[in-house]
Amino acid sequence: MDLLDLLDSRRSTPARQLGEPGPTPAQLERLLTAAIRVPDHGKLAPWRLLTIAGETRAALGEKLAQIHQRIEPDIAPALLMKDRERFTFAPLIIAVIARIDEHHPKIPAQEQLLSAGCIAYNLLLGALALGFGAQWLTGWAAYDADAAALLRLGANERIVAFVHIGTQREAAPERTRPILTDVVGELRL
Ligand SMILES: Cc1cc2nc3c(=O)[nH]c(=O)nc-3n(C[C@H](O)[C@H](O)[C@H](O)COP(=O)(O)O)c2cc1C
Repeated sequence: MDLLDLLDSRRSTPARQLGEPGPTPAQLERLLTAAIRVPDHGKLAPWRLLTIAGETRAALGEKLAQIHQRIEPDIAPALLMKDRERFTFAPLIIAVIARIDEHHPKIPAQEQLLSAGCIAYNLLLGALALGFGAQWLTGWAAYDADAAALLRLGANERIVAFVHIGTQREAAPERTRPILTDVVGELRL
């Protein structure tokens, strides 16, 4: 498919509509190799990736539910169930982790974060190109200190995305898109 056609047709598939099979090891390597080819000011490679698959998915959900219950003792059981299920639908989740040097002499933290964001987007596009569905999710766990400790993130690291990848069980719903003229202008000075 032409790259512009891919962009025109790109849409997320909700993670709960993703199932087996996921990428084969060869497809995963292909996807990861393409995905880390991102713009990167200063060539810092200010990111790393973690794959989450197999039984680790349910184990992660269970541990996140325990953390959530500790933080909010009165939390509704339905929300804990959501935590437990969140990582069990797609066969593969790739955590994109930004490694930010806040005090870099030349490259602002924002640019390092955006480079990591490009990886997440590449993963979405690459998954689609391989015939899979994908969705970029974060959720509370991406911003929680205990969840960060569970994922063994360093002090300078943060979750940018959990990219869920799998086979679409049903067609992804389209959503209303912004109107081009509402978001594009021409600078005149
Ligand atoms: C940084 C980021 C975090 C997101 N986190 C969530 C999330 O936690 N839950 C959710 O339902 N959608 C989340 N989304 C939105 C979905 O990834 C996706 O954009 C949306 O479901 C459909 O839009 P699309 O078809 O244009 O991709 C997030 C998007 C971005 C860019």
